[in-house]
Amino acid sequence: FPLTSLNTFGIEARAKRYLRIENAEQLQAALADPVLAAMPRLVLGGGSNVLLTGDFNGLVLHMALQGRAVLTGTDTHHHVRAAAGENWHAFVQWTVDQGLPGLENLSLIPGTVGAAPIQNIGAYGAETKDYFHSLTAFDPSSGQFVTMDREACRFAYRDSIFKQEAGRNLIIVDVTFALPKAWTPNVRYAELAQAVAAQGIATPSARDVADTVIAVRRRKLPDPADIGNAGSFFKNPVVSADACERLLAQYPALVHHRQADGTEKLAAGWLIDQCGWKGRSLGKAGVYEKQALVLVNRGGATGADVQALAQAIQSDVNAKYGVVLEPEPVFV
Ligand code: EPU
Repeated sequence: FPLTSLNTFGIEARAKRYLRIENAEQLQAALADPVLAAMPRLVLGGGSNVLLTGDFNGLVLHMALQGRAVLTGTDTHHHVRAAAGENWHAFVQWTVDQGLPGLENLSLIPGTVGAAPIQNIGAYGAETKDYFHSLTAFDPSSGQFVTMDREACRFAYRDSIFKQEAGRNLIIVDVTFALPKAWTPNVRYAELAQAVAAQGIATPSARDVADTVIAVRRRKLPDPADIGNAGSFFKNPVVSADACERLLAQYPALVHHRQADGTEKLAAGWLIDQCGWKGRSLGKAGVYEKQALVLVNRGGATGADVQALAQAIQSDVNAKYGVVLEPEPVFV
């Protein structure tokens, strides 16, 4: 089964078996089949955070479950639930248009609702975990559905239990968000604050924030419909305060952000840019012209082409700065 249109990198690869999953019962039934259950499994949502490094000799479960609902909520929070296959951006716009603000900073992030908790998607000063209430996941080892709260998901920067050994097998079927009734705009992220101010908006509505985030993202991130990519290809590396201090002594322009625990998060895009990679290509894979953190498919790239480029970048950044860049997408 061809996977080319199921991954935003647009890498040509095939899977041995493919199943489109439209509801939870179908998922449970599929994995009750001993033949299907024994196959290596790849769960795909929007395919916007995977790098296919070759054909997949197993079962692809394409999560296409649809549905959105406003639940009862609490005195302080609206509760909104969406099925795993809902498009993330469309869901976010719907909440904002329903008068249920909170997720607007996460507008235009590619992918599905079910994928959002896996890497705790975040942008412009907000992360999924900040608005997360709980989720339902299918556990193939027990054949049962489980409910997981925020603590159970072990969220961290671009990370959760679903990327770790303990949770890798779980299949998310729906996610519930808790959106504060006492909403105030979150424009703490400098670039967002500047873009809001530039429009002469003093007190932005959730719609204003959403529209501004959309405009900022369109300016610097490639649309996968035009150029194959998976967003940021590397995580922003976190180093000790001492290591950051030493780097600053040599490179005063180093872009860094102090974390609550005293460590420093460096801008991987800046490091890659400084190594001269921005806009360059290696074979059919390249570094996006407007944002060095994004690797792109220049047309007909294989997973190996992208990996070779990623390794060349990692090795240059490590040689110059002594910093190891960790890829963000999942390699299959
Ligand atoms: N920079 C450069 N050159 C570049 C790119 C960036 O010098 O080519 C510098 C910028 O000038 C800026 C700093 O690096 O001072 C940070 O750049 P930016 O604000 O664009 O954010 P980022 O660190 O590149 C992160 C997320 C994005 C998210 C933005 C906004 C990660 C890995 N990436 O990018 O998430 O949209 O912040 O919050 O944390 C994604 O995960 O796919 C993604 C796009």
